Parts: sequence; structure tokens; C-alpha cells
Amino acid sequence: MEETPANSLLAIYPGSFDPLTNGHLDLIARGSRLVDRLIIGILSNSEKRPLFPVPERIAMVSESVSQFPNVLVEAFDGLLVIFAAQHNARVILRGIRAISDYEIELQMALMNRRLRPQTETLFLMASEEYSFISSRMIKDIFTLGGDVSAFVPGPVLQRLTSRSVENR
Ligand code: PNS
Repeated sequence: MEETPANSLLAIYPGSFDPLTNGHLDLIARGSRLVDRLIIGILSNSEKRPLFPVPERIAMVSESVSQFPNVLVEAFDGLLVIFAAQHNARVILRGIRAISDYEIELQMALMNRRLRPQTETLFLMASEEYSFISSRMIKDIFTLGGDVSAFVPGPVLQRLTSRSVENR
């Protein structure tokens, strides 16, 4: 793990990213401009049957964010606040698309603050054009043979495409 200067602002953007969407990427672009360093934390123990295994998710996210010099990608296991503490992160970044996200996000933010008061959750509103996109929908549409090319970054689309070719 690289040393972070004590006064620099480091944020963690956690999620399952199964797969990364254009909505996530928009949040990463905007979030990375607010902090010195942004670590994308990919939760590795989230779902029993993920679409993509964690190493593939790390690769896809890394390729998709390569244009942002202050963004890093890491997998984490277990509690988010422990991951945040390991990095001395002062900020957890999360996006809110609609009011339906608010309730669960509020619960998580309050719990995380109780567990680790040194880390604040910072919310960015999703940009309008991405506010209807979710990884779950991408998975459903892709699995049912629909076109998701408008909703995911190139490296994700490439892997989805090669996967559907393999399954033919
Ligand atoms: O992309 P997601 O699935 O909405 O992300 C959810 C995530 C990874 C942020 C959340 O499930 C999480 O932080 N999990 C780690 C376990 C943890 O810390 N749980 C307590 C949070 S209140």
C-alpha cells in the first residue's frame, strides 16, 4: 500500500461494480476532481453468483479509469470502514440516483459513521443521463440478449461481447 501524505484528501468509492456502468464512471470522473486520491474499492464477497469474477472486475474498472491519474482500483473483503481505516480515508464516496437509493444509503452512511466517525460519506447526485442505469439492469438486459452498449464503458462491453460469442 502506498503512503498517503497526512494532509491529503483520500476517498474510497466502494461498490460491487458487477459490472461497472457509465453511471459509475461519471461519478468517478466527478469525484476524482474533488479529492487528491480516489480508491475504487470493489467488494469481493458481495454476491454468490456474480456475472464477473473479481479479478475481471478489477481489470475492467482499471482499464476504464486509466485516464484518471489519481484513481486507483483495489478489491476489499469485509467491512468497508476497516478498508477505509487501512487507507486512512476521510471520505466514502457514494452516488444517489433517485429517492429510492436514499433510504439504504442513509442507513449505510449512519452505520459507517457510527463504526468509524473519522470517515464521512459524501454523496454526489447521479447525472440525469445516467440516473436510470444500474448494474442489476445491465445484467438482466445482457442475459436476456439486449443491447447494453449505451450503458457501459468500452472495456466492459468488450468482455460482455466476447462472453456472448463464447456462449454461442
Ligand atoms: O454497489 P453496491 O452493491 O451498492 O455497494 C454496496 C457496498 C459495497 C458499498 C456495501 O455493501 C458495503 O459497504 N459492503 C461492505 C460490508 C460493510 O461494510 N457492511 C456494512 C455497511 S453499513
